[in-house]
Amino acid sequence: MLHITIRNETKNDFREVERLTRKAFWNVYVPGCNEHYLAHILREHKDFIPELDFVAETEDGKLIGNVMYTQAKLVDESKNELSILTFGPISVHPDYQRMGVSKKLLEYSFDRAIELGYQVIVIFGNPDNYVSRGFKSCKKYNICTADGIYPAAMLVKELVPETLSGKKWFYQESPAYQFEKSDAEKFEEAFEPMKKEFRPSQEEFYIHSHSIIQD
Ligand SMILES: CC(C)(COP(=O)(O)OP(=O)(O)OC[C@H]1O[C@@H](n2cnc3c(N)ncnc32)[C@H](O)[C@@H]1OP(=O)(O)O)[C@@H](O)C(=O)NCCC(=O)NCCS
Repeated sequence: MLHITIRNETKNDFREVERLTRKAFWNVYVPGCNEHYLAHILREHKDFIPELDFVAETEDGKLIGNVMYTQAKLVDESKNELSILTFGPISVHPDYQRMGVSKKLLEYSFDRAIELGYQVIVIFGNPDNYVSRGFKSCKKYNICTADGIYPAAMLVKELVPETLSGKKWFYQESPAYQFEKSDAEKFEEAFEPMKKEFRPSQEEFYIHSHSIIQD
């Protein structure tokens, strides 16, 4: 059985986490990836939550997992706001995937998030990875995007049950996730070259990210 330790990321981990993120995401959703650049810029953003930035380490000190959280918002029809969480990137080194590392990272971070007073997490992701962590379709909680749609990949977890109380909510993502593609390409140049190529998971991502839940 794999024994891991979970702890907060420190400055000394930054580059290794970016390398790990690049390895985990490379060619999975598109040829190449930008998530290592996202990890790099997120830490500087005001919505980033350092207390919820965790790494997973093996017993011999190898960094094999990371999850980062930022603040986002839900707004109801009377314009009341609820400060919530989103996470991403979440990365597990390809040699250690499907061994429960993200399960441990997430469950640990959920407990810390509750201690910090957060009640709800909204993410965009492949449901396969998150339904067993208690995430449900946004449609079940009546949470839609600003333009009123319920994306199949938009998933919600109530850390504190009954927080959402049947109201209709609009999700507002943090601007922390916006970046210039050219900046990400420039950042990529400093890493050891890896080949960009097609993988079937990219088609799966296309399907998930273009799907909407209807009534
Ligand atoms: C997605 C990712 C973070 C999952 O991490 P992981 O450590 O491999 O995940 P876990 O082993 O904890 O498994 C998580 C869930 O995935 C599913 N899963 C695990 N092994 C599986 C398998 N062999 N086949 C299908 N689903 C599987 C299960 O639902 C599992 O939860 P459960 O065991 O409690 O039922 C990791 O694969 C990764 O880094 N991928 C590349 C980057 C990425 O896609 N990040 C997420 C972007 S949304």
